[in-house]
Amino acid sequence: MAIRPLVLYPDPVLLRPTSAVEVVDDSIRDLVRDMTETMYAAPGVGLAANQVGESLRVCVVDITAGEEPGNLRVFINPKVLESSGSQVGEEGCLSFPEITLMVERPYAVKVETLDLQGNKVVVEADDFLARAMMHEFEHLDGYVFLRNVSSLKREILKRKIKKMIKTGDWVALDAT
Ligand code: NI
Repeated sequence: MAIRPLVLYPDPVLLRPTSAVEVVDDSIRDLVRDMTETMYAAPGVGLAANQVGESLRVCVVDITAGEEPGNLRVFINPKVLESSGSQVGEEGCLSFPEITLMVERPYAVKVETLDLQGNKVVVEADDFLARAMMHEFEHLDGYVFLRNVSSLKREILKRKIKKMIKTGDWVALDAT
């Protein structure tokens, strides 16, 4: 297992869609282990593969950030089958250190995914878990949570980030 360096916005790997996993093999299982370790070290409640530089349709979510066992969810080639309702809440992102945004998401989702053995499973989730999942799936589609705020707010944030990059303040929150 290894903690992998986090990729920060606006790295292009975050801004293009990831590729579907063809075979769930040991290399995918290793990637998932590394991503889980990286997410817990940050700590964060979700991480997409492109956030560690792997453009693959894989993400992990644990809304307890590893504090309570049994909450790790792994998604490989996830596909949203149904979504309903809406919720607005605050989100952070490991690719956007120290930035939080109020984002609207569906309240409940039904998702088809592969598990670590390559079997198709259907997962239903609501509330904060659904929010965390939808945030990660957005990453897998090559978008970041900035797309969910107004264009004015987005431009202000982009300018702020550009400034932070210039001054060397745009650095990953890294526990290592
Ligand atoms: Ni994120």
